Amino acid sequence: MDVSIKAPAKINLTLDVLHKRDDGYHELEMVMTTIDLADRIDLTEKAAGGIQLESSSGFVPFDDRNLAYRAAQLIKGRFNINKGVHIKIDKKIPVAAGLAGGSSDAAATLKGLNQLWQLGLNLEELAELGVELGSDVPFCVLGGTAIAQGRGERLTPLPPPPPCWVILAKPPHGVSTAEVFGAFRQEKVEKRPQLEQMEAALAAGDFHGICQGLSNVLESVTLDQYPKVRLIKEKMQRFGAPGVLMSGSGPTVFSLVEQENAARRVVNSLRGFCRQVYAVRILGGLGEPNRLE
Ligand code: C5P
Repeated sequence: MDVSIKAPAKINLTLDVLHKRDDGYHELEMVMTTIDLADRIDLTEKAAGGIQLESSSGFVPFDDRNLAYRAAQLIKGRFNINKGVHIKIDKKIPVAAGLAGGSSDAAATLKGLNQLWQLGLNLEELAELGVELGSDVPFCVLGGTAIAQGRGERLTPLPPPPPCWVILAKPPHGVSTAEVFGAFRQEKVEKRPQLEQMEAALAAGDFHGICQGLSNVLESVTLDQYPKVRLIKEKMQRFGAPGVLMSGSGPTVFSLVEQENAARRVVNSLRGFCRQVYAVRILGGLGEPNRLE
């Protein structure tokens, strides 16, 4: 039996670090939403008990450094599954980019194995398993648009943003989330997200309110360490994108744009400057996948 499942990327509309916790993690408050840039995970059952990984990307590891591999290990161990699985990852989401690509692959693997091995777990149970793999995995299990608190695992669904284009630009290097959190200093933060304002803008479907509310305190680390990330942000702003922000710990910068011709203008402004540029639709829980050609 085979199962094929989509693993969409997320962007942060807000990201606030409240404080450092005793367990070494940071207490977060963020708003995340899914976008139509997705990996595809194909799962094929194997009679022999092992986990095999195959990927279209040279950037992903094929062993237990890969979160999808760890998701399969977790399910096999927790539910005493003797069968094996071949996991094929068709990779479209850039790696180490701030877009939760690895976490989304893990979430899709949990969901797919739940089907393949008929475990009967609901989304909350899958999200609880997911937090053992990484802080963003529970959100990726649920998808849509949500406030994420705690390490990222306490989720409150929100209405999706109105339909718009998301232009993403990823500089050639990746960043380590652990290093960015390690270098974070509250006193360097210039602007903090206003959660209530973002909630109100989403509830009202107020595109410009959402753009004005975009805010990520981790920019205070990554924009300083990587001048190219700051330059991409400035370029997008200069070419008229109403809302521009770095996603997660970076280094991907995105802009939200309502009109297709404005989206094309932002994409064109980045040509020759940044090789990895994507223009996709926001998903956020609603809407059909759609792509800017
Ligand atoms: O949970 P995950 O393994 O994805 O997190 C990667 C790293 O990011 C953690 O080891 C930690 O250094 C940092 N992190 C954090 N606080 C969070 C989430 C992640 O400090 N809430």
